[in-house]
Amino acid sequence: MTSTPAPAAPPAPFDLCERPAPVRAFLPDLINRVLAARINPGRVFDLELPLGQVAEGFQAMDERRVIQGPAATLAHRAARHTAPGWYPHQRGDWNPPMNPQYNFEGQVALVTGAASGMGLAAARAFAQAGAAVVLTDLNKDAVQNAAKDLTDAGHQAIGVVCDVTDEDQAAAMVGSAVDTYGRLDMAFNNAGIQAPPSDAADESAEEFDRVNAVNLRGVWAAQKHELRQMRTQGSGAIVNCSSLGGLVGLPERAAYHASKHGVIGLTKSAAVEYAPKGIRINAICPGVIDTPMVSDMLEGQADAMAEILKQQPIGRLGQAEEVAEAVLWLCSPGAGFVVGVALPVDGGFTAH
Ligand SMILES: NC(=O)c1ccc[n+]([C@@H]2O[C@H](COP(=O)([O-])OP(=O)(O)OC[C@H]3O[C@@H](n4cnc5c(N)ncnc54)[C@H](O)[C@@H]3O)[C@@H](O)[C@H]2O)c1
Repeated sequence: MTSTPAPAAPPAPFDLCERPAPVRAFLPDLINRVLAARINPGRVFDLELPLGQVAEGFQAMDERRVIQGPAATLAHRAARHTAPGWYPHQRGDWNPPMNPQYNFEGQVALVTGAASGMGLAAARAFAQAGAAVVLTDLNKDAVQNAAKDLTDAGHQAIGVVCDVTDEDQAAAMVGSAVDTYGRLDMAFNNAGIQAPPSDAADESAEEFDRVNAVNLRGVWAAQKHELRQMRTQGSGAIVNCSSLGGLVGLPERAAYHASKHGVIGLTKSAAVEYAPKGIRINAICPGVIDTPMVSDMLEGQADAMAEILKQQPIGRLGQAEEVAEAVLWLCSPGAGFVVGVALPVDGGFTAH
């Protein structure tokens, strides 16, 4: 009796971000064809590599022979490796610390939504610049793991569970920072959620409330309790996370954009109130940044990535680390005369 061999396991998805591999040699053409929409951006791209044509040394570098994924995502990631000068931190030949002028030794930074995306990048950047960091997030495991990664690397950090929609939790989060490190010097109020696109005439009140509860009320609650601590110190810097959605309108985005416009109003009013008390408050307005929020939003939207790339004057998406750079600058003495701004970090999107 012969037994049928088990089918081969499907190849693991190939992540070009993680592994700059020789396959990139095949991809510049893919980028152009996706951008020119000759390949449907949402099509799952499944390429058996003709490794026979590749130099032997290349084969030794990577034994995987299949790449898979939505064509637009692959093209975008390939662009990082094929366009000279883009994303130098991913070429592996670049020393990644933040701007070495920043020295936040002896200072305490708090970041909301620190388990992922821009919040995580900012928390890491603050830690690399010497600050003790309070990472807070709804996601308990992720925020505690992120804090542990930082302490394992020799930084000072704690992970605190906090749902910013609950003002008591926001107060407790600031309390944890002060109990642990004795003060609070900088805060990045970043936690936010996306809203699914909706005709403005059909959006439910529940969805409007859900988005505004996190994106606007959450920033309000965090800022309120941070200010209570900072005003006792007579110093501090707060950066609130708005969005390009705080600066412009877009179809089917009314609730999200309302929340992000609200963040700018909150920021400006508190900024003029607290500037005389030694506390600077500003907002950042990220454009389209390559974070889990954006990949989740684009999932299942076949043409969306190629369309979004076409709209970016800079020709690519932003990186979470580039937003973190702006946050650290706004918190630094270098931005000592910058108060109440809504700073676009958007590759030129709002300059249109
Ligand atoms: N990614 C973009 O293109 C983009 C563009 C403009 C603005 N933004 C804004 O930037 C911020 C961060 O976005 P991201 O792309 O890094 O997203 P992300 O989804 O990667 O991270 C958001 C984090 O916030 C946390 N969070 C969600 N609800 C929370 C709550 N109620 N309390 C505490 N934490 C909560 C999540 O658990 C997650 O860790 C958000 O405010 C978002 O609206 C994002």
